[in-house]
Amino acid sequence: MKKIVVFTGAGVSADSGLATFRDADGLWANYRIEDVCTPEALARNRALVIEFYNKRRRELDNVEPNAAHRAIAELERWYDVDVVTQNVDDLHERAGSSRVTHLHGELRKLRSERNPDVIVPIKGWEQHLDDRGPDGALLRPHIVFFGEAVPMFDTAARIASTADMFIVVGTSLAVYPAASLVHYVRRDVPIWLVDPGNPDTRLIRNPLTHIKKRAAEGMPELVRELETVAGR
Ligand code: OAD
Repeated sequence: MKKIVVFTGAGVSADSGLATFRDADGLWANYRIEDVCTPEALARNRALVIEFYNKRRRELDNVEPNAAHRAIAELERWYDVDVVTQNVDDLHERAGSSRVTHLHGELRKLRSERNPDVIVPIKGWEQHLDDRGPDGALLRPHIVFFGEAVPMFDTAARIASTADMFIVVGTSLAVYPAASLVHYVRRDVPIWLVDPGNPDTRLIRNPLTHIKKRAAEGMPELVRELETVAGR
């Protein structure tokens, strides 16, 4: 079976009703990164950071995977598929994708402030300010903040290097190291980009096809094409 790696960003969940970050109505138009998404913010204003992620978690209870998440899951009928996502939502898992690597953490998990390896699932949407982990330390959202290392990056780079086909969906390719994943794809491997906007593709040297459509429209179309190829 050929290996497809699908690399996703906030745009894949936009058609489910979740805001992206850098579009005109995106989250970073309404919040400052340095107030809610840095280790300094957590130290300075724990309540605001926790409230921000509680809101994101609550939104998650009211949305469903869209046709793009489902199409990506469906690819597993024909291909060996790995999803690498920058998203902290769980919509790929809920759509049925079986291997999902989260580069920037997961909303449904909290982790110890003292030991990053102590990661626990959260019940419901609300993290309370004084919630503690099994090690007795305060818990924090299991999110990679700006300025922090991206522990899953090496795993993701290894996965990218095994791709026979590489699909990028709904990411501005503006945040590093995540955006540099495209460098780990072998040079002859075709890359498809599904995004209605203009992500920064300057660093992509592989053969590139830009499907300039919303994920929920472009992704099912691409999957139908790839299924036909696999079935030949
Ligand atoms: P961005 O908000 O930077 O980019 C969203 C991308 O989705 C853009 O390229 C849009 O054109 C595209 N888009 C918008 N609507 C779409 C739709 N319906 N279908 C498909 N694409 C659509 O989001 P990311 O690239 O994911 O990190 O941002 C990367 C990281 O920056 C995030 O993981 C997050 C953020 O700060 C952290 O929070 C650590």
